Amino acid sequence: MRLDKYISHATGMSRQQVHKAVRSGEVTVNGNTVRKTDTQLAENDNVQLDGVTVVPRQPRYFMLHKPAGYVCANTDGNHPVVLDLLDEDWLDDLQIAGRLDIDTTGLVLLTDDGQWNHRMTAPARECGKRYRVTLQYPLSDDAAEQLRHGVLLREERKLTRPAVLAFVDCERTTVLLTVHEGKYHQVKRMFAAVGNHVQALHRESIGHIVLDAALAPGDYRPLTAAEIAGGQHA
Ligand code: URA
Repeated sequence: MRLDKYISHATGMSRQQVHKAVRSGEVTVNGNTVRKTDTQLAENDNVQLDGVTVVPRQPRYFMLHKPAGYVCANTDGNHPVVLDLLDEDWLDDLQIAGRLDIDTTGLVLLTDDGQWNHRMTAPARECGKRYRVTLQYPLSDDAAEQLRHGVLLREERKLTRPAVLAFVDCERTTVLLTVHEGKYHQVKRMFAAVGNHVQALHRESIGHIVLDAALAPGDYRPLTAAEIAGGQHA
């Protein structure tokens, strides 16, 4: 990473403030004064500002109970965004791991650890995501079997990956569906492919990370160390 970016990110100083400090000789890298703001840093370089080591900020990991009506994006011209629900600094650094539609509720993960986000969402090893799905029509055994096996979504050439499906109620209009992929409107399109319609969609878990029942819609909390580590192996 560039020196000026590193210091600015770690300290909250503006780039201009950092440039001034670097040019006036207040910054050392491994004990040597540097005056070039675009100096590239290596992994274990020790950066000091006025003789004090600059420690990078620790990555953050949050779970949020997304309410309906919020967009999973950093900004949106028309609707509130999930970041509006977080009372944190550096909101622009947070990435959303696995987006939900505006009308979908439930578990959303946010982090500024890009590698962790990638591990959670990379298509090759995508974590299982469990949804509670409320349907317009009772789901037949035949349709359930098709969904478990894989269905062809509109404008796709390959079947969806095998999914886990369990009935929740005897009316057969509420089911739990676990999928291992995240195509656009994945779940809604899967049920449309078997002639049904999703009326409400709620994400309960991503890999090992389960939405905390103590979180009301709109609430969030940091992930525990076990959730962060478990999420990597889910
Ligand atoms: N599948 C959908 O169709 N919508 C979501 O929000 C998540 C998964």
